[in-house]
Amino acid sequence: MLTDQFNRIVDYLRVSVTERCNFRCLYCMPDKPLSWVPHEQILRYEELFLFVKAAIELGVKKVRITGGEPTVRGGLERFIKMIADFAPEVDLAMTTNGFLMADLAAKFKAAGLKRANISLDSLRRETAGKIANRDVLDRVIAGIEASIASGLEVKINCVPIKRMNEDELGAIVSWCLARGVTARFIEYMENSHANRHLHGLRKEEILAEIAKIHDFTPLESPAKSPAKYFAIKTGGEFGIIEPHSEEFCKTCNRVRLSAQGLLAPCLYFDEAMSVKEASRAGDTAKMVEILRSVLAGKREKNRWNHGEFKESDRAFYETGG
Ligand code: 5AD
Ligand code: SF4
Repeated sequence: MLTDQFNRIVDYLRVSVTERCNFRCLYCMPDKPLSWVPHEQILRYEELFLFVKAAIELGVKKVRITGGEPTVRGGLERFIKMIADFAPEVDLAMTTNGFLMADLAAKFKAAGLKRANISLDSLRRETAGKIANRDVLDRVIAGIEASIASGLEVKINCVPIKRMNEDELGAIVSWCLARGVTARFIEYMENSHANRHLHGLRKEEILAEIAKIHDFTPLESPAKSPAKYFAIKTGGEFGIIEPHSEEFCKTCNRVRLSAQGLLAPCLYFDEAMSVKEASRAGDTAKMVEILRSVLAGKREKNRWNHGEFKESDRAFYETGG
């Protein structure tokens, strides 16, 4: 079992397979980075898998494939299959913007993917286009529909932003309810890569918006989930992820591996150690040693609730948001 110094059990690994993305979301990557990490510095699937395998052997029970946008890396179904064949019991999920999922969802499901969290920030073509800096809505919706049809368990992620999509939150909940999927609203996490003029809605504001259309009551949330869930009176539920809350980090059970092999204990802080050399050398013992020391340094909490921007300059698209 993997634990940190605050007795949190770490059993959730997020693996970013690329920092690249086909969108330029205002809250993440409004401008193309000056340079992408060159291909030779990116770990091959076999090298990433070596770490995933070691982590699973040490007690990791949930693996999420992230980016950047994971689907822009070719042959992803091969990586999914490696993990699913090795550990069919692992909760294998992916976070994606959905743009390419109409073509890929069935392939991913057949390879062993179980769940997909897909971003849907707006149901208005113009607003969705403004947020992603691309005309994306039709393909995202087709991607969500195909993911549901393929049998993947789908959740929808939405980042509520003032004067952008704030008036649509109730409608997004309704849209998800009609398709039997759960909407989750993520408070915007301030960071230096995002557009400077963004203001996110906080939990209370999000709830007030949704309350204009829906009646709901808070649910007892699953212990390990970062989301707080609400039951809608007429059936179904939605969630809110509140990284600004004092409580948020208490149940953190995750560690992140970047495509270049950086192992990061927290999205907020800069700290990370590389497992690249160890993985390229096939040295599992060394990878495990690095993993344990990264977890020993995992901080107690982020500082978003102190009104501070994310301290580190490492972007979310590098480690997977
Ligand atoms: N704040 C909140 N959520 C973010 N995401 C990306 N950047 C941010 C941010 N700054 C979320 C998006 C997407 C997922 C990859 O991470 O909702 O679904
Ligand atoms: Fe791409 Fe996701 Fe970042 Fe949007 S949030 S730019 S889809 S990595």
